[in-house]
Amino acid sequence: MKKTTTHNERSGSIERRQFIKAGTMLGLGSFLIPQSLFGRSPLAPEVAGDCLPTTDDILGPFYLAGAPNTTMVAAADEPGDRLFISGTVLSNDCSTPIPGALVEVWQANNSALYSTAPGLELRGSMTTDENGQYAFETIMPAPYLNGAQYRPRHIHYKVSRPGFPTLVTQLYFEGDEFIAADPWASQPDAAERIIPLNPIGGDQNEGVFDIVLDGFVGIKPNRYGDDGYMMPTYPNPSADLTSIHFNVFRNAQVKVVITNLDGRELVTLVDKQMSQGRFTTQWNGSDASANACAAGTYLATLIVAGKVILSQRVLRQ
Ligand SMILES: [Fe+2]
Repeated sequence: MKKTTTHNERSGSIERRQFIKAGTMLGLGSFLIPQSLFGRSPLAPEVAGDCLPTTDDILGPFYLAGAPNTTMVAAADEPGDRLFISGTVLSNDCSTPIPGALVEVWQANNSALYSTAPGLELRGSMTTDENGQYAFETIMPAPYLNGAQYRPRHIHYKVSRPGFPTLVTQLYFEGDEFIAADPWASQPDAAERIIPLNPIGGDQNEGVFDIVLDGFVGIKPNRYGDDGYMMPTYPNPSADLTSIHFNVFRNAQVKVVITNLDGRELVTLVDKQMSQGRFTTQWNGSDASANACAAGTYLATLIVAGKVILSQRVLRQ
């Protein structure tokens, strides 16, 4: 049987009365998905990141070791709007990925409850791949009362890897009305952990949360050399916007182009002088003449200083 409880973030005490209030509030149908920050143009702006270690946040009372090793943090029938979170765990140069980092996440459900046993719903752990990437599918957590005020929607993280300090933190979402009064989310150093969400159709949203640990993995970035890297596109396949995340490791002229499988260029998403950093662009499935491309397989290619770094497949539905 599913065992759940509400909690006080500091003490962990069960507060039934507060849960009832939270349920009433949710029944009003207020939902806090912000509008997409990205335009629909294929020439969407790139967003640069700052190179500072990700800041910590409180552990809260509901961390449990031994969360299921899964990227399906929410079962398919878990009530709530689906949420897809992905990101890269990076060294403190903000470009060297950290493979083999254990990412543990836990969150409240759509009724402001945390599971405590035995199925450990809405808890998951995963290990970053060779490119430092992690991703999981879940549902949007509900805000819940903590003392006299609501905590904003949040997902707890614990990121650990031998040789690095363990990071305990929380992820928040832009547009959440409860951030301003929350003693933790309103901290200036939490700003980088308040991410935009991008609607991807239906009641689904995606967000990217890259994590910088305060240490260095001590190996060269990856087999693609010193110039850049491009993550797998997301979502893939896609019927709407496809997000393309890439790293540039040195100042250079950078291009991101979409081609068909024969190498014919359909549209240029990025073509500019760029400095080192992490960037995101998006493709809306149209060619340079704004005509929608047919369903099928395309390639997103990163070119740095005239050199093709790598391509990632983009499946259009
Ligand atoms: Fe919490």
